[in-house]
Amino acid sequence: MSRLLVTGGAGFIGANFVRYWLEHHPEDRVVVLDALTYAGNRSSLPPEDERWRWVEGDVVDRAGNEQLLREEEIDTVVHFAAESHVDRSIESPQRFVEVNVVGTNALLEAVRRVWGESEEGGLSPTPRRFHHVSTDEVYGSLGPADPPVREATPYAPNSPYAASKAAADHLVRAYFETYRLPVTLSNCSNNYGPYHYPEKLIPLFIVNLLEGRELPVYGAGINVRDWLHVEDHCRGLEAILLRGLPGETYNVGSRNERTNLEVVEGLCDAVDRAFAAEPELSKHFASAPPAAGVPSRSKIHFVKDRPGHDLRYAIDPSKLERELGWSPRVEFDEGLAATVRWYLDHERWWREILGRGGYRGWIARQYGRPSEL
Ligand SMILES: NC(=O)c1ccc[n+]([C@@H]2O[C@H](COP(=O)([O-])OP(=O)(O)OC[C@H]3O[C@@H](n4cnc5c(N)ncnc54)[C@H](O)[C@@H]3O)[C@@H](O)[C@H]2O)c1
Repeated sequence: MSRLLVTGGAGFIGANFVRYWLEHHPEDRVVVLDALTYAGNRSSLPPEDERWRWVEGDVVDRAGNEQLLREEEIDTVVHFAAESHVDRSIESPQRFVEVNVVGTNALLEAVRRVWGESEEGGLSPTPRRFHHVSTDEVYGSLGPADPPVREATPYAPNSPYAASKAAADHLVRAYFETYRLPVTLSNCSNNYGPYHYPEKLIPLFIVNLLEGRELPVYGAGINVRDWLHVEDHCRGLEAILLRGLPGETYNVGSRNERTNLEVVEGLCDAVDRAFAAEPELSKHFASAPPAAGVPSRSKIHFVKDRPGHDLRYAIDPSKLERELGWSPRVEFDEGLAATVRWYLDHERWWREILGRGGYRGWIARQYGRPSEL
């Protein structure tokens, strides 16, 4: 039996991971630590029960982290908590350094102290692990013909978000080299799936379509990302936690490179197909383009590009496949259709977010369309 601390467990990937872990490891205890920033949602998590505990707290608080680690006798930390949105990091980078860099160090330091104490006290050595969840964005932008990045590819982050994650990755590695803390790292490509906050491309565009709004694509839509279903990411994290070697980094991705425009067009078609198969949807979401017989693609328009917008990310996951036997299972078009279905079925979840003043303010600042929200 393991006792996990999952930081950022009320966020998109964290909540999917908590749900995945509770389902696949019913014998384990899970403690979620989350500061409930704008991106955190209690409603993304199942109701609390004796197998998992909710703690509202900030990873920057080292003493609080220490207390929780002791109280819950945590042996496995899965660290998701972060500020995660590139556009927000361009608007206010300071918070990204505080949470992603200082917060990661505060957590590492708490773990080092607490796990170090029990070793000195001669307690039976429990297998322990600090897993840090990171991004492919730390490797920077690739040209169209460059090979996908491997674990040894040098870091070249371009946005404040990517730079703060890169700094955190270096700290995690340093705690292995310096203190022999049993860490693992993973750098993953773009995730999509349920419980994704509707400011990122896929969920934003789904809710925009359902509400009859435009789809503002940056630049010419030619930026390339490798898209991985969040459940495949969770399976990858599971493989690393169970079989990964301390000190090692694993790239997680699905060799599914798509331009943003291809993703958006695929999404539009998935929405149109869902409406065609279920006429009731046109009554319920009467402003959505297919409800008026108009293709969703007609809502695509191009807006000024984000500054320093990396052209292409592509990640080589062969180490994770070869050494830990992982491979992605969710095919992209099926995953996209399932994600559209999830947003159709969970209107309450996303409407609650759309109703928040903070969300409306952000969208208005970013896309300049306050009146429509
Ligand atoms: N979303 C992706 O496509 C992707 C891809 C690769 C890696 N990642 C990484 O995975 C992790 C999770 O990403 P996500 O998309 O789920 O992010 P998210 O923004 O949806 O969730 C972040 C969560 O962290 C919490 N949080 C923020 N600051 C905190 C603090 N100081 N203390 C405690 N909790 C805090 C938030 O409340 C939220 O619940 C991040 O570290 C991100 O860098 C994300």
